[in-house]
Amino acid sequence: MSSAISTAPQSGAPLIYHLRDVVKTREAKDAAFTLRIPSLQIAMGEKIALIGESGSGKSTLLDMLAFILQPSEIGAFSFRPERDEQPLNIQAYWKKGKINELGDLRKRYIGYVMQNGGLLPYLTVRDNMNLCRSVLGLRPDGMVEHLADELGITAHLNKLPDALSTGERQRVAIGRAVAHRPSIVIADEPTASLDPYAAEKVMSMFIGLAEEFDITVILASHAWDHIKQLGLRRLTHRTIRNHNKMFTETVVTG
Ligand SMILES: Nc1ncnc2c1ncn2[C@@H]1O[C@H](COP(=O)(O)OP(=O)(O)OP(=O)(O)O)[C@@H](O)[C@H]1O
Ligand SMILES: [Mg+2]
Repeated sequence: MSSAISTAPQSGAPLIYHLRDVVKTREAKDAAFTLRIPSLQIAMGEKIALIGESGSGKSTLLDMLAFILQPSEIGAFSFRPERDEQPLNIQAYWKKGKINELGDLRKRYIGYVMQNGGLLPYLTVRDNMNLCRSVLGLRPDGMVEHLADELGITAHLNKLPDALSTGERQRVAIGRAVAHRPSIVIADEPTASLDPYAAEKVMSMFIGLAEEFDITVILASHAWDHIKQLGLRRLTHRTIRNHNKMFTETVVTG
């Protein structure tokens, strides 16, 4: 079980995500899991941390925010990736089965850093970093080289991921998630496989890049210690398990 003081966004910036009464239930053979989000507001430019133990529903929440996973119930779910545009009603997209449109929104506006990096082993570091840019048809503009420089991986650009250390691969994954200048980067335990020193270094590089490019960050982690000094807002998160773990419910608000 974990808990923290609730801190709704303070900035007055427009909300990039606004969720009300969103629920996801997942049933396995001998266990049931429910994630409840009575209210979640994330303002543009915020940096959010979701901290919780294994199985508490962090990836479930991130996948719903990335439109990968359909919520079981939605009271309201709006998404406003551009300041000058009206919020989009994501509930209506799901209701009408607009899966391709949701995929397009994800490609255009969201960068995703997976726990294991998720790099393609047969592409060089440069091509991995260019992946989301190529999908969007963006021309080379020096962004990949700039990011490689900031992340300290310039010497590795022409190598395959296999030739890199875990920490270097995580830096490539972060570079890839930022290279197409998305509005948001969602990062699922981006430093979980690193030692504490490397984790701190990679995390501060990541937050530094998000600040440089005005990217909203939503990240999940087991550990709060090396994140709290980076000024992230921690979501309130309460997990209740029954004694034999047949049923787990997590409530997230913020
Ligand atoms: N594809 C799935 N089908 C059914 N249940 C699932 C599925 N994926 C996850 N779950 C269940 O949902 C619950 C939450 O899982 P989730 O992956 O969101 O947790 P997590 O906090 O990300 O854990 P970890 O820190 O281990 O990554 C768990 O009880 C898990 O067993
Ligand atoms: Mg997870």
